[in-house]
Amino acid sequence: MSDDAPDIRQQNFRALLRSLPVWDTELPHFDPASAPADPLPLFQQWLTEAAAAGAPEPHTMTLATADATGRPSLRTLMLHDADEHGWHFATHRTSRKGRELAVRPEAALGFYWAALGRQVRIQGMVTAAGAAESRADLAKRSTGALAAALVGRQSEVLASYEELERASDAAWERARREPDAPVGSWTLYVLEAQEVEFFQGDAQRRHVRLNYRRRPPAEGGWTTELLWP
Ligand SMILES: Cc1cc2nc3c(=O)[nH]c(=O)nc-3n(C[C@H](O)[C@H](O)[C@H](O)COP(=O)(O)O)c2cc1C
Repeated sequence: MSDDAPDIRQQNFRALLRSLPVWDTELPHFDPASAPADPLPLFQQWLTEAAAAGAPEPHTMTLATADATGRPSLRTLMLHDADEHGWHFATHRTSRKGRELAVRPEAALGFYWAALGRQVRIQGMVTAAGAAESRADLAKRSTGALAAALVGRQSEVLASYEELERASDAAWERARREPDAPVGSWTLYVLEAQEVEFFQGDAQRRHVRLNYRRRPPAEGGWTTELLWP
């Protein structure tokens, strides 16, 4: 490889970034005046519309947490439900995110549905469900999900890929044999939203941002505001 190969690679990479289109499609119009008083039905509507528009895996989201010093980290998770209690997801409480949530039980979620130029940002406090609810959540999922959960040790340093293969083979075998095998660290979490922002991209870059903020419990309900894009 010649000395200038890294430069050429960098140039090609930048050229690629500049050439990639964004919102190369007809985007829906979002009228905030028609939005419901509560963000939940709008979220459900947007996820349903994203699925109908063919958005790949519209129920995946980014979960951001922070450690005790405030250092942030994020990762992709599956959304298991969104209801009057909040947004549900599940993971090992011994994982990095689980440990971060134990010391700082607040988080943010991000959804992006490129097919519709829509983004949703949610922030709030996170509560861990009890063992029975967490078990019930895992029981509803696939054999593969159970096998993955049974492997455990999530976020620990892995000495070799072969070690994972061995653990995974054993976990798949057990998951098939014992579909309700318990996974003690598997935990269902619910994020109760304090803020939910809906972003509708616009071809002329006049994006619509509608932000819901939860009112104090004594008042109940939500206030809404538009945000500059
Ligand atoms: C599409 C997708 C879905 C995922 N869903 C989950 C999930 O529901 N639960 C989970 O623990 N990890 C899930 N992961 C793996 C996480 O992104 C992450 O790698 C793992 O949870 C470890 O995160 P942590 O080390 O920050 O705790 C998913 C990854 C992808 C790419």
